[in-house]
Amino acid sequence: MSLDIAVHASTSPRPDEERASVLAAPGFGQTFTDHMVTARWTPDGGWHEAQVRPYAPLQLDPATAVLHYAQAIFEGFKAYRHADGSVWTFRPEANGERFARSARRLALPELPVEDFVAAADALIRTDEAWVPEGGEKSLYLRPFMFAQEAFLGVRPAKDVLFCVIASPAGAYFARGVRPVSIWLSEDYTRAAPGGTGAAKCAGNYAASLVAQQEAIEQGCDQVAFLDAVERRWVEELGGMNLYFVLDDDSIVTPELTGTILEGITRASIIQLAGELGHKVEERRVGIDEWREGAASGRIREVFACGTAAVVTPVGRLAWRGGEVTTGDGETVGPVTSAVRQALLDVQHGRRPDEHGWLHRV
Ligand code: PLP
Ligand code: COI
Repeated sequence: MSLDIAVHASTSPRPDEERASVLAAPGFGQTFTDHMVTARWTPDGGWHEAQVRPYAPLQLDPATAVLHYAQAIFEGFKAYRHADGSVWTFRPEANGERFARSARRLALPELPVEDFVAAADALIRTDEAWVPEGGEKSLYLRPFMFAQEAFLGVRPAKDVLFCVIASPAGAYFARGVRPVSIWLSEDYTRAAPGGTGAAKCAGNYAASLVAQQEAIEQGCDQVAFLDAVERRWVEELGGMNLYFVLDDDSIVTPELTGTILEGITRASIIQLAGELGHKVEERRVGIDEWREGAASGRIREVFACGTAAVVTPVGRLAWRGGEVTTGDGETVGPVTSAVRQALLDVQHGRRPDEHGWLHRV
């Protein structure tokens, strides 16, 4: 049986002019819509109390388990307004499936995929006016789940909250589509075998922050992590997967090893790049291959991808004592551009959706 979602509309939604000014320049993750979804899980009641309700702070007991032991997971996907005004999400079932995998890894209760999708749909329908029009704008959906039981014993919580919030989104990087620079993290790794690397859990992001801080101090935009065992294989960025375009026009992305996130953008690009005529390989990529390939021209383009960042060119890799640029480090390469455009065109309804990736809200 699927979850019954009650709708309690806000009596004080933001005025039209305020919403219009947010939608004109939404940035990323700064402003939230008028409503949110919440649903509660307990061992006896299962999922219940599902509702769309006015967006508001959550009150938490200081002993709430998530504040101490980080039993929390999240997802991110987007809703797009097409030219005819209709609203669509991109592969929400894939996010729902990954959310269920993350829940299993964090010993949280699974939310059925259909309820995950229905919860987002209910929020998007209630806050439809917040789905921006045009360009590359979208409404970013952030479902999350956490241990809300007030208990300091270390065990899976018996009281869990699922929420969905939504935030209008423009470009993730404030400077728009320009190559970003990457700092290679040599001291810190993101995930070890047997750890939580493949789960989208809060702790992974907490653990990446000091490395990201180091990247910024070193004048870079993002940090790249190597595998935790050999410190040799390129894994991913703090919040994006990586792709390399080689001089024979083939494309390579690090294979899924259980320590990197199974990006839905990554998976979509494997398909789309193949359709654009590229051979796409999933395999291990050594850090030396990146350094030497960029220097010799064997690697022509590097790009990062993810829901928030879409497809973002990488112009420079820096590490302690050296750096290398791909291309001139300034311009967006043709393959990166074509992949980015193909993906955005499907998402925004400008290219046929041959794989049934779009879900009408
Ligand atoms: N890797 C990490 C660590 C991420 O946080 C994300 C963002 O969600 C991705 C990769 C890309 O995943 P997706 O394309 O599903 O957004
Ligand atoms: C996303 O792309 O949805 C992410 O979750 C990346 C980052 C904002 C954490």
